[in-house]
Amino acid sequence: MALPRRLLNICFGIALAAGTGEAQSATAPASGAEALHKKECGSCHTPYQAYFLPAASWEKIMSGLNKHFGENAELGAEDQAALTQYLVNNAADHTKNKRGARVMASLPSGKEPPLRLTETPYIIKTHHEVPKKIFVNNPKLKSLSNCGACHPGAAAGNYDEDEVKIPGTKNWEKD
Ligand code: HEC
Ligand code: HEC
Repeated sequence: MALPRRLLNICFGIALAAGTGEAQSATAPASGAEALHKKECGSCHTPYQAYFLPAASWEKIMSGLNKHFGENAELGAEDQAALTQYLVNNAADHTKNKRGARVMASLPSGKEPPLRLTETPYIIKTHHEVPKKIFVNNPKLKSLSNCGACHPGAAAGNYDEDEVKIPGTKNWEKD
């Protein structure tokens, strides 16, 4: 027996509403600074989400772009100011994203702000099951800093464990 049309409409309506609600909470409204961040800070590596480091880390990183991990990543003054503001506003200690609070809780107090996400206890702990040996002789992977190699949705902030794919391994948990 077919469902009465009105009931079908209600179900469909609920499904649609749930769908859009989720999409809205998962992606913050796109801003000019967000697009600039993806473009300028995503050209050499994953555009690391601001909520993975505290504001003090971003200030330090952004004030040393001419000597950035062995590269020159210098920007024009306007872009530099806009991106610093964007990163600070959305940093681990300012964001509403739940990962920010986890990063902050993991950081030891009284230490220099970390310059790398991969040095924060939060990232180290969430990756403790990833075997070190998979980085050896795996040029597609390089290091844990290459988030996008294993998290295809990294640039969009999707780190869902079910979508992890490690290059060069079939089943990373068993290899
Ligand atoms: C010219 C290339 C280049 C550009 C542009 C660039 N970076 Fe980088 N960045 C690097 C390199 C190289 C590393 C070191 C990667 C590694 O160790 O594997 C790095 C590392 C980082 C790390 C540390 C990653 C970790 O290990 O946790 C952060 C944070 C970072 N960059 C932020 C930024 C920000 C913010 C911008 C934009 C303002 C930016 N980068 C633009 C080349 C670049
Ligand atoms: C070698 C592959 C690999 C790389 C590179 C990698 N990850 Fe992961 N990541 C994983 C795996 C595997 C898990 C799931 C761990 C588990 O299930 O125990 C994970 C889990 C996570 C989680 C927890 C899942 C969640 O929903 O909160 C976050 C956040 C995360 N990664 C962020 C990052 C960031 C940021 C980077 C880059 C700085 C990165 N990862 C680089 C493999 C990787």
